[in-house]
Amino acid sequence: MELFKLQTLVVAVLLSSTAIAEAYVRPLPRKNLDLGGFRWPWDSKTNSQPQQVHVSLAGDKHMRVSWITDDKNSPSYVEYGKSPGRYDLVAEGDFTSYSYMLYSSGKIHHTVIGPLEYNTVYYYRCGGQGSEFKLKTPPAEFPVTFAVAGDLGQTGWTESTLDHIDQCKHDVYLLPGDLSYADYMQHLWDSFGKLVEPLASTRPWMVTEGNHEEENIPLLKDGFVSYNSRWKMPFEESGSTSNLYYSFEVAGVHIVMLGSYADYDEWSDQYRWLKEDLSKVDRKRTPWLVVLFHVPWYNSNKAHQGEGDDMKTAMEPLLYAASVDLVIAGHVHAYERSKRVYDGRPDPCGAVHITIGDGGNREGLAHRYINPQPNWSEFREASFGHGELKVVNSTHAYWSWHRNDEDESVKADDFWITSLVSSRCVDDKSHELRSMLMKP
Ligand SMILES: *[C@@H]1O[C@H](CO)[C@@H](O)[C@H](O)[C@H]1NC(C)=O
Ligand SMILES: *[C@@H]1O[C@H](CO)[C@@H](O)[C@H](O)[C@H]1NC(C)=O
Repeated sequence: MELFKLQTLVVAVLLSSTAIAEAYVRPLPRKNLDLGGFRWPWDSKTNSQPQQVHVSLAGDKHMRVSWITDDKNSPSYVEYGKSPGRYDLVAEGDFTSYSYMLYSSGKIHHTVIGPLEYNTVYYYRCGGQGSEFKLKTPPAEFPVTFAVAGDLGQTGWTESTLDHIDQCKHDVYLLPGDLSYADYMQHLWDSFGKLVEPLASTRPWMVTEGNHEEENIPLLKDGFVSYNSRWKMPFEESGSTSNLYYSFEVAGVHIVMLGSYADYDEWSDQYRWLKEDLSKVDRKRTPWLVVLFHVPWYNSNKAHQGEGDDMKTAMEPLLYAASVDLVIAGHVHAYERSKRVYDGRPDPCGAVHITIGDGGNREGLAHRYINPQPNWSEFREASFGHGELKVVNSTHAYWSWHRNDEDESVKADDFWITSLVSSRCVDDKSHELRSMLMKP
């Protein structure tokens, strides 16, 4: 920590000596934490203690509990109830495992529990072993609060971001891609699982894939085996055939998680599924429509410039016709918020786009921006941090972005967003949407 402060000081001196006196000094990246996940392949695995426990939403009133045991005989049931130490209910789940070159994973358990009451604390235990965990289900109605940060990794900055997310009273955490930064080193998936367990075992973590989830070895290993095995999301519950895209509902918000790394053109399965999913959205029941994916469509940072263009060309007209309120992406290690925008121009019926790939991974921040700032871009800053989306009622939501100032959370951007349902956009475009959805 002392060394880190010294580094910051050195950077501060360097910056001021180049005569760019900025009020806030951007910190350097921090190293990966040493979480002791590594093990030689021949080391024996007998531990039946549940580890890497995390929960996610799994259809109305249900949640999926996921955990890993080294012991392959450990059972996949979850005991749960509303008072500590008293488990009146039990649910049986299933399990998977995978191997990757020399590495073989522990037994990965996924067990759906429910029906659960809304806004209620449940105590649970995995496989009849180990500590008791505690989760809170989301509310049935507004207000509902989401914590948001992408590109997490597992560094000292990640720790800081997780700390701030922990302090904010949130119901669900949304992660627009890039979780562990394991990058083929499978034990880093395990250490990431351990790092996030204190938070991810208490609130649902809803994630979509980024480029760091894809661990391809040509002709040997295909894509997302680690991610899909460990971070199972409710794709079956939402009629999708792939863990790489799905949707879910919380209180009055319909959230679509798209995949930047799955096919997205008009003839793709993802596009077909998206049309079907949007056709089922009832804006009376879920007035807010939010979409997440990894690679931003509106990005004025020089990092990853233009990478989202193809997906934008393919899918933006559909999202526009559906009157999506908010689009959240990651990938660029910085924060940016747009005005309501469509087709590259400010548009009152378009979505607000937020890039928030600032969770704290080891690659550091993306500092260089295109100038002048495009007219759709409202706020941009290269800092680590997290966002909070508080949906107050069917018409108003409050967004704030909090930078990790050293290790303290400081609110650096905020605004009120009014839903498109409360404008004329949804009604005006309903015809357009119907005809797009009906196109074969
Ligand atoms: C914003 O910029 C775009 C492209 O540079 C331009 O076509 C458009 O007219 C501008 N809109 C406004 C409202 O300034
Ligand atoms: C929704 O919340 C906003 C902000 O607090 C408030 O001004 C507005 O009156 C609320 N609308 C309804 C219908 O309650």
